[in-house]
Amino acid sequence: MTDDVLQGVAARWNGNADQWTHDVRKGYDAYRELFTFPAFIDFLPPLAGLDVIDFGCGEGTNTRRFAEMGARMTGIDLSERMIGHARNAEEKHPLGITYKVSSYSTDTGFPDGSFDAVISTMALMDGPDFDAAMREAYRLVRPGGFLAFSVLHPCFITPGLAWQKNEAGIATALCVSRYFDRSTFTEEWRFGSRPADEIVQPFAVPRFPRIMSEYLNGIVAAGFRIGRIGEPQPSAQACEDKRFARWRDLAAFLLLVMAERP
Ligand SMILES: C[S@@+](CC[C@H](N)C(=O)[O-])C[C@H]1O[C@@H](n2cnc3c(N)ncnc32)[C@H](O)[C@@H]1O
Repeated sequence: MTDDVLQGVAARWNGNADQWTHDVRKGYDAYRELFTFPAFIDFLPPLAGLDVIDFGCGEGTNTRRFAEMGARMTGIDLSERMIGHARNAEEKHPLGITYKVSSYSTDTGFPDGSFDAVISTMALMDGPDFDAAMREAYRLVRPGGFLAFSVLHPCFITPGLAWQKNEAGIATALCVSRYFDRSTFTEEWRFGSRPADEIVQPFAVPRFPRIMSEYLNGIVAAGFRIGRIGEPQPSAQACEDKRFARWRDLAAFLLLVMAERP
C-alpha cells in the first residue's frame, strides 16, 4: 500500500477530527451509544487486567471505556488530530492510556507479542490493506491472546445499497448492489442525532469496500483461528427509533469477529 493512500486517509480524518470529537463527546453518535458499542461489549471476553491495543482508536472515547473496564490500553490512529484529541482527554482525566500516531496496516513499532489482545471498533473498513492489518495484529498479540473487532457488515452495507420504503416512509427491504465493487470512495455523512439547528459540514470518510471472504480469509491467512462471529440486532430500546428497527428486521448492520492466536 503506498504512503500516498495512507496520507490521503489521514488528511480526511484530520479534517473530520474536530467536529467528530465534539459530536461523539456530546453523545450525538446514537449508533455507538445504543447499538454498536453495547453489542461489542456483549461479544467481548472480559478485558480487566489485560494489555490491549485499539486499532484506529480515533479520539479515544471507546478506548477510555475499555480502560474504565480495567484494561491497560494503548490506542493507535493514523490521524494526528484524532490522537491529539485523545491525548487531551487523557491529560484532563488520566486513565493510563498510551496513544501513538500509526497506521494499523504497517509496522506499529511495538515489540512482538506485547499485547494480550488487539481490538478495533468500526475502523478496519476505513483503511486500506486489511491483510496487512491482520498480519500486524498477529505479530502484536502474544500466543493465546485474541483479536476482536467490529466493522460495518460487508454483505449489507455495500457501495450501492438502497432502502425500499412503503408509502408511510417505513423501510420494507434493503436492496444490496455492487457487492463486488471494491472501488475506494469517500462517503459524506453526519451523525443523525445532532440538533437540526447546528449546521455543520458532513464528515468525509474514505471507504475501502471488501467482501465477506476477504475479511475472513485475511484473518485466517495471518495465522489466527476464528472463534466466533457476531451479527447482532439492536435492542428493543434502540428499536423504538425506526432507524434501528430496520437493522433488527431487515438486514445486519454489524459484523463482529473474535479470533485467537494459537
Ligand atoms: C469511524 S472512525 C472510528 C474511531 C474509533 N474506533 C471509534 O469507534 O470511535 C475510524 C478511524 O480509523 C482511523 N483509521 C483509518 N485508517 C487507519 C489506518 N490505516 N491505521 C490507523 N487508523 C486508521 C481513522 O483515522 C479514524 O479515526
